[in-house]
Amino acid sequence: MLKKVLVTGATGKIGSQLVPRLAAYNNIEVRALVRDAEKAASLEESGADLALGTFEDPQAIRAAVDGVDTLVLITLQNPNAANQASAVLAAAKEEGVHKVVRLSVFKAAIDGPADVTRLHGRTDADIQASGLTYVILRPPFFMQNLVFMAARSIASEGKLYFGTGKGKLAMIDLRDIVDCAEQSVISDEYDNQIFTLSGPESFSFQDIADRLTHIFARRIQYVAVPPEAVEQSIRAMGMGDWYAQVIRDLCKAYRENWGDVVTDSVPHITGHPARSFDVFAREIFAPALKL
Ligand SMILES: NC(=O)c1ccc[n+]([C@@H]2O[C@H](COP(=O)([O-])OP(=O)(O)OC[C@H]3O[C@@H](n4cnc5c(N)ncnc54)[C@H](OP(=O)(O)O)[C@@H]3O)[C@@H](O)[C@H]2O)c1
Repeated sequence: MLKKVLVTGATGKIGSQLVPRLAAYNNIEVRALVRDAEKAASLEESGADLALGTFEDPQAIRAAVDGVDTLVLITLQNPNAANQASAVLAAAKEEGVHKVVRLSVFKAAIDGPADVTRLHGRTDADIQASGLTYVILRPPFFMQNLVFMAARSIASEGKLYFGTGKGKLAMIDLRDIVDCAEQSVISDEYDNQIFTLSGPESFSFQDIADRLTHIFARRIQYVAVPPEAVEQSIRAMGMGDWYAQVIRDLCKAYRENWGDVVTDSVPHITGHPARSFDVFAREIFAPALKL
């Protein structure tokens, strides 16, 4: 049976990999909600239809969800994320969408330690109360964050700066999230469940520096800085107060081993093991560093 799927946040890190993956199925028609058609040219080339608009444009949202069976709801990390998600959910419900696959966050909860955790907690509760069939995926810190966070300091100084102290976290290769989202769309086996995703093991930033030292055969040193120093440097990079505070608060939680949770959700959903840090380092990080 033909399935019509709308992906929001389609030009983002997860969406841009998920859309071509879904478009490759003969029985799936994919629509991608995008703000900029030019930026989405490769999605269109992969076979997706584009719906132009933003979360703030009710008419565009209504047109985007029209005729859709399954909504993949991805929002940008931002202080309006829960309102943006509510607007799409309300339109989806009115237009008769059957199922929502939500990209949430690790330990989403309205009383979580960081605003991003609390906003996702609100949306996850809205989804559960909506009456729609759902799959909620809650991934932790993406390994790929290391590329924009640390590639430059590693390449220039051999140093990895972060604010998680000795805390361990089970970060995930985002390719595994794409795989989980794909399966959540094509199968009904995971319906009405919430999955905490993770990589295959939990480790500290010191462990990361040690691994990279071994893999790249050059010394890489972890410099543990206070969460407030991470906050300041994010502000200085022009990434905004809200995001800086979120990362500060997540660092504080991670220092206390809040992220030290390994689950079997990735193998359970995808049928393959979660990608290890070493695989990420060789396949993604080394090319990004041009090593
Ligand atoms: N990074 C992490 O470590 C991590 C960990 C766990 C969960 N998450 C969650 O992952 C989600 C983000 O996924 P991602 O990293 O794949 O996304 P992303 O790369 O940050 O991209 C965000 C997407 O949202 C679109 N967008 C932004 N503002 C919009 C608006 N007003 N209306 C419509 N579209 C808009 C962007 O479009 P443009 O291309 O036009 O800007 C882009 O497609 C967040 O909910 C975050 O909390 C992230």
